[in-house]
Amino acid sequence: MMGTVLVTGGAGYIGSHACAALIEAGYQVVVLDNFCNSSPVALKRVGEICVTPPICVQGDVRDRDCLDKIFHAHTITAVLHFAGLKAVGESVDLPLEYYDNNVVSSLVLLAAMQQAGVTNIVFSSSATVYGDPPSVPIREDFALSPTSPYGRSKLMVEDILADWHVANPNWSVCRLRYFNPVGAHPSGLIGEDPQGFPNNLMPFVAQVAVGEREKLFVFGDDYATADGTGVRDYIHVMDLVEGHVVALEYICRQPGLHTINLGTGNGVSVLDMVKAFEHASGQSVPYEIVKRRPGDIAACWADPRLAETLLQWTASRSLAQMCEDAWRWQQGNPRGYA
Ligand code: NAD
Ligand code: UFG
Repeated sequence: MMGTVLVTGGAGYIGSHACAALIEAGYQVVVLDNFCNSSPVALKRVGEICVTPPICVQGDVRDRDCLDKIFHAHTITAVLHFAGLKAVGESVDLPLEYYDNNVVSSLVLLAAMQQAGVTNIVFSSSATVYGDPPSVPIREDFALSPTSPYGRSKLMVEDILADWHVANPNWSVCRLRYFNPVGAHPSGLIGEDPQGFPNNLMPFVAQVAVGEREKLFVFGDDYATADGTGVRDYIHVMDLVEGHVVALEYICRQPGLHTINLGTGNGVSVLDMVKAFEHASGQSVPYEIVKRRPGDIAACWADPRLAETLLQWTASRSLAQMCEDAWRWQQGNPRGYA
């Protein structure tokens, strides 16, 4: 399936890489982003990477008029819905903002799609919907019990999409549960650009390696894991967005409600990540062990077999490649897009 795809949140970290992958695969891309957590420069850079740049609309997904105008002006065949707020800790302090941004935007988007006759949607969900899993690897049919307003907002949208699909069985709805996206486009032109103090491990490690920060704080070394530090399933953002392209092709052939993990199936500890980044960058990454971060779990990694079976997709890039690509981006853009 080729055609024009609406990418909400397309200027963000994952969205900008998705734009590059979609254009590479032959799609036309229209981005809707309000730039609340991103820069228009990211989209200019996508235009440098790809032959055809994405069409950019600055606006809010909750703005129905704005969506109607986009659907009127372009023949959209599918929507990739990335827009949303994503900081777990911040969501505890600002729950209304999170429910408003993440849930209301999805409601307004579905109504606008229905009016426009667009029936294919891929939604960015998260492994955070599983909460603290009873065992690893995590399969899609595991119980769901998110522990933050952010995670609950993702689960609410998953449930809304399921109800919507019952009422509209001709739709194709895909709920992709991402594990931990890291790394950057191999060009070094686009990457993750967190505002202020990074919440996530990889951008923090990269900022220490480049000398922007003095040391990494490792949140606990007393977990029941091989080296005591938290274990996660880090997936190269290029693998992740290529997974979206194949998911899009799959759902356009196969109407239904699909729920799929996107992960590698490998668990990597905080100290494994530090070592891999030191190796890739040739820099040392000093760290200090501090107490556990409230709400963190010991270990989380995907059972990726459903994606393999349904989409014939597996993550292929190594941890070394994730670090090398993140390092290229970090070195070329020590202060991000600023
Ligand atoms: P990001 O913050 O870099 O990108 C989100 C983009 O959406 C930003 O460009 C922001 O400006 C835009 N946006 C936010 N609210 C908007 C609104 N109401 N209207 C228009 N634009 C809006 O985040 P990301 O890391 O690229 O994540 C993309 C999606 O994937 C999010 O839904 C996130 O919850 C989900 N996700 C991310 C991760 C991760 O670790 N990065 C993990 C699992 C799921
Ligand atoms: N960590 C540190 N120091 C830091 C940052 C993180 O030791 O400065 C540790 C954490 O304790 C954890 C691991 O590194 O063990 C990964 O932490 P991240 O914050 O990078 O990622 P999380 O797994 O906590 O959460 C991320 C996203 C969530 C998403 C989840 C699952 O932030 O939004 O992955 O997809 F829900």
